[in-house]
Amino acid sequence: MAVLDQTVTDKFALFHGDCVEVMQALPPGCVHLSIYSPPFGGLYHYSSNERDLSNCDDYDEFFEHYAFVVRELARVTMPGRITAVHCMDIPRSNSGTDTMRDFPGDIIRLHEREGWRFTGRRMIWKEPLAVRLRTMQKNLAHASLVADSIDCGVASGDQLLTFRRVGTNPVPVQHPVGMLDYAGDRAMPGDVLAYRGWTGKQTENRFSHWIWRQYADCMWDDIRIGRVLPYREARDSEDEKHVHPLQLDVIDRCVELFSNKGETVFTPFMGVGSEVYSPVMLGRRGMGAELKASYYRQAVKNVAMAAAGRKDIEENSELDLALVEE
Ligand SMILES: C[S@@+](CC[C@H](N)C(=O)[O-])C[C@H]1O[C@@H](n2cnc3c(N)ncnc32)[C@H](O)[C@@H]1O
Repeated sequence: MAVLDQTVTDKFALFHGDCVEVMQALPPGCVHLSIYSPPFGGLYHYSSNERDLSNCDDYDEFFEHYAFVVRELARVTMPGRITAVHCMDIPRSNSGTDTMRDFPGDIIRLHEREGWRFTGRRMIWKEPLAVRLRTMQKNLAHASLVADSIDCGVASGDQLLTFRRVGTNPVPVQHPVGMLDYAGDRAMPGDVLAYRGWTGKQTENRFSHWIWRQYADCMWDDIRIGRVLPYREARDSEDEKHVHPLQLDVIDRCVELFSNKGETVFTPFMGVGSEVYSPVMLGRRGMGAELKASYYRQAVKNVAMAAAGRKDIEENSELDLALVEE
């Protein structure tokens, strides 16, 4: 399968095709950062395409295919640079008495085998009732606590795993006046605002120091869960559910922390384009591959908006916490 379509400008390059084949056409070391959510099939099947990683028969087969992606990503990434993987623990079933798979742990072990070194894990907090309403996870029903709280489950947070490609990074990612923007839900304290862009001693830069404390935290409980790209239009007739785009706050943070302006940020699993939109908005060059035609088309629309500086397309939906009768 060759690339079926592509949209290439000086700010972004989007490919409709299989990500491994797209990467095979790239020279070694040309990617400065990658960010993505792997399409794990236990949760959602994106298409019937046999190259879709969500179509694997079982967990082991998924990892066999995913290993090609992780290996190829290592080849195209500049030595010493980062890949950021957004994932979560995976329930084995929805019986009400479920056990979980350590998907993040298996992702870490795969990366360690394929030329990456694990650098850390951030949890992205999820509100339990919202998780219950979205997933209909039986062990998250209040009724299961009432009946037998042995089976009371966990509203798993998302996890952001970061890995550094082996080798020495030839180009540091520097912030001479500290961080300039905060992507998140917390109100910044008024007394730090005057330090934005502080050119004096950086030990005095209270604005950037405050942002650093949020970003270095192991628990990201200040992500705006509803701040995502438009995705509903991308649903096609065979879909049972919508794709869930990654929150833009998560991507913005990675882009600012792990890449310089003008560098290339890649996603092998582009969906509706979130991991390309954010870097383009932040002055990087975005690049992505997507297998499914309807998502690719939506990504082209979304990323074109980023190139035009059109932040107004971002959604900012509030969580629906209406209680349901169980
Ligand atoms: C979890 S979704 C990504 C959503 C994305 N983070 C966003 O914000 O829109 C995973 C995506 O990977 C795509 N995909 C699955 N296998 C693929 C492959 N071999 N090459 C390229 N894309 C693939 C699916 O169609 C799906 O859109």
